[in-house]
Amino acid sequence: MRHPLIAGNWKMHKTVAETRALLRELRAATLPAGVQVVVAPPFTSLSAAHEELHGSPIELGAQTMHQADHGPFTGEISPVMLRELGVQYVILGHSERRAYWNESDDDVAWKVRAALKHGITPIVAVGETATEHERNETIGKVTLQVRAAFAGLAAADVAKCVVAYEPIWAIGTGRNDEPESANGVIAEIRAAVEGLQDARILYGGSMKADNAAALMAQPQIDGGLVGSASLSAKSFLAIVEAARARARQP
Ligand code: PGA
Repeated sequence: MRHPLIAGNWKMHKTVAETRALLRELRAATLPAGVQVVVAPPFTSLSAAHEELHGSPIELGAQTMHQADHGPFTGEISPVMLRELGVQYVILGHSERRAYWNESDDDVAWKVRAALKHGITPIVAVGETATEHERNETIGKVTLQVRAAFAGLAAADVAKCVVAYEPIWAIGTGRNDEPESANGVIAEIRAAVEGLQDARILYGGSMKADNAAALMAQPQIDGGLVGSASLSAKSFLAIVEAARARARQP
């Protein structure tokens, strides 16, 4: 059984005070049974988020991390530091990290291994650009990205990870991929690496309250990696609610 998962990627939004306010609203809601919920605030808010989420089923994620335990890496944050703050998930290889910080497939592979070593579940983001999409290169691109991210890992370890298929042209544009199309790409991702058959694979890219149910009705889509719609309790909780039907499936 692949339990549905909704993860909020807050990106560079929310001060500590704003983090506390949003988490208090989220905590006050009754979450649907069987749906896992993760929030990934900025590093500066993790400590406060850890406090606010004490005793709540909502789990904590980070948006990136360095692969080393410690060392001379100015500005970076290690998995050891994240663990201390109760972080259980980490988004790795988000397209913004790949585009603006030149994160390569190799970097992502190192980080996946480091996360697993420290008991943090990686959420590995993959996806094609608009040009690749137009040229029908989507499957080639995403299968290459997942093969690189999980190269050499045992199938049992791969199965513990989460993948997020996020077409880059759909991120922050209000233009989501069609459910059937995303389902087809995710089926190919699952088939590309031994172990991904049992892993959760999410869709990301303009997932909203009004398209989440249709996306998660697809057999391959186990949940969502949600950006802008995770910044308000109302829209995020509506997406979490949309995962309820999926949690009931055998
Ligand atoms: P979006 O972002 O929901 O705002 O499109 C998704 C993401 O980048 O993870």
